[in-house]
Amino acid sequence: MNEGAKATSLNQLGYGLYVIGSKFGEELNGMTANWVTQTSFEPPLVAISIESDSHTRKLIDGGQVFSVNIIEDSEEGRAIIAKYVKPQKPYRNKLGDEDFTTNLTGTPLLAGAISWFECEVVQTLETGDHQLYLGRVVGAGVQQADAVPLTLKRMGWDYGG
Ligand SMILES: Cc1cc2nc3c(=O)[nH]c(=O)nc-3n(C[C@H](O)[C@H](O)[C@H](O)COP(=O)(O)O)c2cc1C
Repeated sequence: MNEGAKATSLNQLGYGLYVIGSKFGEELNGMTANWVTQTSFEPPLVAISIESDSHTRKLIDGGQVFSVNIIEDSEEGRAIIAKYVKPQKPYRNKLGDEDFTTNLTGTPLLAGAISWFECEVVQTLETGDHQLYLGRVVGAGVQQADAVPLTLKRMGWDYGG
């Protein structure tokens, strides 16, 4: 395979940029992710791919729930994405100074998100260096219907290839 072409073409896939919320027991967390896509209308299903050695993976494996926070294409939105790229260790409680609520699943729903949905995991696929979680959407909320969602391209970062 042409490795350069593989990296370039995979990086040319179009992505949004989100904060994945997780919960296991009393512990909550948030992390930035772009590998997120809807996979079914009925039932409403969404797939997310999570680094095998991340803290988020441990929480989703344990709690079997996650949220997807959609972030605005704005200075404030970029700051949220930059904050949640940090690993849980050594930063520990990334949500400590965050304004958020919870709903049916208990996962964090950021006040700074333009909309959110929350899922219950229906299937997990152990793949390579990431775990693929298929979640059924069980709750959703909209805080700014007209806002423009941030994309990976607009952020100017890469995660792929
Ligand atoms: C642009 C960008 C996109 C990312 N997308 C993902 C992703 O889709 N899945 C993932 O597991 N990690 C992704 N990451 C990496 C995580 O945000 C990062 O490993 C984070 O520190 C994990 O947080 P945690 O330790 O709280 O779980 C991405 C990082 C960047 C910079």
